[in-house]
Amino acid sequence: MAIATMTTMTGEEMVALTKKHTLFEWSAQAKIDPIPVARAEGIYFWTPEGKRFIDFNSQLMSVNIGHGDRRVVKAIQDQAATLAYVSPHMATEPRARLGAKLAEISPGDIDTFFFTNGGSEANENAIKIARFFSARHKVLARYRSYHGGTAGSISLTGDPRRWAAEPGIPGVVHVLDPYHGVERGWESTQQSLATLEEVMQLEGPQTIAAFILETVTGTNGILIPPDGYMQGVRQLCDKHGILMIADEVMAGFGRTGEWFAVDHWNVKPDLVTMAKGLTSSYVPLGAVGMRHHIAQHFQNHVFYGGLTYNSHPLGCAAALATIRVYEEDGLLENAKRMGAIMTDLLKGLQARHPSVGAVRSIGLFGVVELVRNRQTREPLAPFNGTSEEMQALGKFFRQEGLYTFVRWNVFYTNPPLCINERQLREAFEIIDRGLEITDQAVKV
Ligand SMILES: Cc1ncc(COP(=O)(O)O)c(C=O)c1O
Repeated sequence: MAIATMTTMTGEEMVALTKKHTLFEWSAQAKIDPIPVARAEGIYFWTPEGKRFIDFNSQLMSVNIGHGDRRVVKAIQDQAATLAYVSPHMATEPRARLGAKLAEISPGDIDTFFFTNGGSEANENAIKIARFFSARHKVLARYRSYHGGTAGSISLTGDPRRWAAEPGIPGVVHVLDPYHGVERGWESTQQSLATLEEVMQLEGPQTIAAFILETVTGTNGILIPPDGYMQGVRQLCDKHGILMIADEVMAGFGRTGEWFAVDHWNVKPDLVTMAKGLTSSYVPLGAVGMRHHIAQHFQNHVFYGGLTYNSHPLGCAAALATIRVYEEDGLLENAKRMGAIMTDLLKGLQARHPSVGAVRSIGLFGVVELVRNRQTREPLAPFNGTSEEMQALGKFFRQEGLYTFVRWNVFYTNPPLCINERQLREAFEIIDRGLEITDQAVKV
């Protein structure tokens, strides 16, 4: 069913007024050029003037079921008409049902949830819970990570978005990942785990409450852990009494073809954080889930945490409806099926284009790393920087109606999980033509 355009402004008016009175995130305001958006449906969105874009990043890797699903829209409408809001001190049906449903699909014996407005707050509360439960204070996190923009979660974040927020909250210790960038590549699971344990020992394991990690790293390059890494992290955490927190904010809810990315390795974290795909971003909602014995701790100890919008009925109703869509439409299976095709399409790009230095994907979570030189593997843009060629590629995608995330020397292939093969091939045809621009920069 088509969704009517509700906007009364032109794209130009929308952009001008938005820029005049609102701030855009992570940007110097003069440098940005937002796309005006009037409506969206399935894998597409449109400007007020009717230009169509393929949403090849699911917005912020979050609109997993696709745009404008009437079943979720109706659930939100019905909930708003019945009970739009009550204090989090009350019990409601959508809250009750969502807790029970999440207990069913979450890894291991994670069966209790604290609801938040998004992923950052989920991580804030996860480290609070870990600290209360363990009576330890340090938290390990990895450099190639993003955990959110609030005080604690930006301190956990390893990537350069953290720098401007320093000094952050005390007690965060960053460790290296098994991946060292397109030039150096991967180290072995064994080496990486040995370094991790060395850091644990040097910091004093008895002072470390938790290790938080993105199970498949998102904005820092779709980093899929090498075989044995996730299991090794679990073992080290067990050995030293450290809680393992899986940040599944981006990787969760079918993105990798499983409910949670950690399920690929059959590893059971102690805490899991989620947001984005939980409601497919139709309304804001995040959550931190905890194992049964951790939840039991709070039977007789106060949980010192709260939010006016904790367990918001609209969020809970939207999440329940969204989870039903994943199930009814078989979206996890589709992510696996389309993911296998996407892996081949990515390999095809690498074979044809000298500027493609590396491709990685799991389910519909994919990335292309571009290089200037295939021998030295010098990236096409420096770490935390950009280049003329990367900018030209971004401009080409926009002209051609392909929306995706272009960052440093990489771009992402993260479409909604409802995408079909024809649509996937259409997007890759645009990418194929775009890479002719970056190929011209390759020296050797
Ligand atoms: C892995 C991860 N954790 C946490 C967050 C923060 O979530 P939010 O922006 O909903 O606060 C993000 C957002 O991109 C994320 O990708």
